[in-house]
Amino acid sequence: MIAPLIFTGQAIELLDQNRLPDEVIYETCQTAEEVAAAIRELKVRGAPLIGIAAAFGLALAVKHYKGAPEQLESYFLKYKSLLAATRPTAVNLFWALGRMEEVFRQYEKQGISWLQEALIKTAEDILAQDIKINQAIGDHGEKLLKENSRILTICNAGALATGGYGTALGVIRTAHRQGKISQVWACETRPVLQGSRLTVWELMQDKIPVTLITDSMAGYIMQLNLVDAVIAGADRIAANGDTANKIGTYTLAVLADYHHIPFYIAAPHSTVDVNIETGSQIPIEERSHLEIKQFRGINLTVPEASVFNPAFDVTPQQLIAGIITESGIINPPFQKNIRQHLMQIRGGER
Ligand code: MRU
Repeated sequence: MIAPLIFTGQAIELLDQNRLPDEVIYETCQTAEEVAAAIRELKVRGAPLIGIAAAFGLALAVKHYKGAPEQLESYFLKYKSLLAATRPTAVNLFWALGRMEEVFRQYEKQGISWLQEALIKTAEDILAQDIKINQAIGDHGEKLLKENSRILTICNAGALATGGYGTALGVIRTAHRQGKISQVWACETRPVLQGSRLTVWELMQDKIPVTLITDSMAGYIMQLNLVDAVIAGADRIAANGDTANKIGTYTLAVLADYHHIPFYIAAPHSTVDVNIETGSQIPIEERSHLEIKQFRGINLTVPEASVFNPAFDVTPQQLIAGIITESGIINPPFQKNIRQHLMQIRGGER
């Protein structure tokens, strides 16, 4: 399975996801500025992977620090803010940067060389843990699926969006190994086509049967009784279960509800934001109008057309049948069960 991010010791190599599926090219990032630009430009994307890349970006910034010890804190916080400002919706970004800051806060006792190594080690741990977390999500989620399942998914919540293996695609991968998947339907995912460019490519690499549809075909295939479950990833889950994910996810959840098809979210604990009660508090990124008006430089509309381009939407918790995490499935009622589940797992800590 392809690795979306490789740490070489001096830099990170990021698989440039804007060039997939035509070209498999890694871009070297040696500085936090380069990592921040790669996140903003969607060369690296997907909630968990954004967090991992940002953690390495911050570790690289401190690795290159040449100033006086007294200035280190403001230097660290400047780069933390730079990385935090790249994308607003996926909470994994802030979670990973928060983990890095916890390590930074121990620096005065330990010294700068210790800090430089400890930050790299923490970023490596976040990456390694993420792969294990996804495998656990796959193990739990697979149990929800019956033989010969036909699964609809959106965007790319796969190896390309995480440290490796994937969340929604992690469930599909594990279920496929158990012989339970007869078909994956991949929504193309307008405007930037993470479904057609990334999910189709990723699943075909693993020889998992996948069929591409445009986003507007989802209702029709449900009506034809060709979908047994919908599984999507998440960028942020509020304490009540409302879930932000790629634009179009809410539409799938409404359609699934109408057709009595279970709609699941697959996500790690780091995607749950218990600091916000409902989805209305989740900041929704609005991206460049050019993503809708053009594709790879070709005009798709009148250049002066007025456009609205929110990158995410929020699925209300009532439409979600279960949240598949690394520690098991969280079932409704989410208002009660998310906090209870996380408290049991974390011993009450966040
Ligand atoms: O804009 P993107 O490509 O970063 O959006 C990604 C998604 O919406 C994914 O579904 C989500 O981050 C989960 S990835 C495991």
